[in-house]
Amino acid sequence: MKRIIETKIAAEDVIIEPKLRPQTFEDYIGQNKIKENLKVYIDAAKIRHETLDHVLFYGPPGLGKTTLSNIIAKYMGVNIKITSGPAIENTGDMAAILNDLSDGDVLFIDEIHRLNRVIEEMLYPAMEDFALDIVIGKGPGAKSIRLDLPHFTLIGATTRIGLLTAPLRDRFGVINHLELYSTEELEKIICRSAKVLEIEIDTDAAKEIAKRSRGTPRIANRLLKRVRDFAQIENKGVINENIAKNSLDRLEIDKMGLDMLDRKILETMINKFGGGPVGLETLAAAINEDAETIEDVYEPYLIQIGYIQRTARGRVITHYGYKHFGLLLPGF
Ligand code: ADE
Repeated sequence: MKRIIETKIAAEDVIIEPKLRPQTFEDYIGQNKIKENLKVYIDAAKIRHETLDHVLFYGPPGLGKTTLSNIIAKYMGVNIKITSGPAIENTGDMAAILNDLSDGDVLFIDEIHRLNRVIEEMLYPAMEDFALDIVIGKGPGAKSIRLDLPHFTLIGATTRIGLLTAPLRDRFGVINHLELYSTEELEKIICRSAKVLEIEIDTDAAKEIAKRSRGTPRIANRLLKRVRDFAQIENKGVINENIAKNSLDRLEIDKMGLDMLDRKILETMINKFGGGPVGLETLAAAINEDAETIEDVYEPYLIQIGYIQRTARGRVITHYGYKHFGLLLPGF
């Protein structure tokens, strides 16, 4: 079990530079309502000498679900154990993780929708009664014994709330939907990250990167680092609006923040499916991409900017989607 947790932490370290991660609610930009409410729930639980109710975060990848979970643990003054749905391979792993918790700990399970069903069912008594039911033996002689667990807070994160079973979803007392960030919020995040990384950037450049970051801090930070590379080689390390625009064009990120795959999705809908409606699986097959990736990673932003709509009969491209390519919606 130790191995599962430690491997996960090592992988996370590589993906997002820990330095860029805010450590406190004050440093965390955006998601204001969620932050304010969480602080109230934690303060109230502290006064009652209880653990915080179990929390579920859902929303597209890269919006800060893991970061917020770390901040919660820090604000509560407790340890956090981090793992993920696919890393927990059998009931033995789950039992070991639960058994290793101390009173008050936060257990963070990323991609919780990917827990296998039998393992998920072990969580029900753990979440509800802080108990672990273990079956000893097989067949008619099998016996179930109940072990007490320390009181802990489970924080689950998922990009796919729809794939969570109702019994699991219902056991979370706090359910939060993380929204895509505004350009202004992303601009602040980019300026903060630039400061942490000691990069010189002006506000117009930060705004340009923010506009092309698809509402996602992880993308904003990634683009900032790539633009810094161009600035270092071509502008003595200083990022101004010109360098930002030029670098992002060279990265083939367009003015709306769309990358090659976003454009391929839209162009395929226009050219092969007459603008839709087209089913997700059909679209995924046409562009040789995974349906889950389209739904989780690409679609939320395309829907947010009003380029596509989800209908009962499939996805359709809107007037704005056509306009992006200098085209008119047929019949307009
Ligand atoms: N880095 C990544 N996400 C952030 C956020 N929400 N606030 C500040 N810095 C961040």
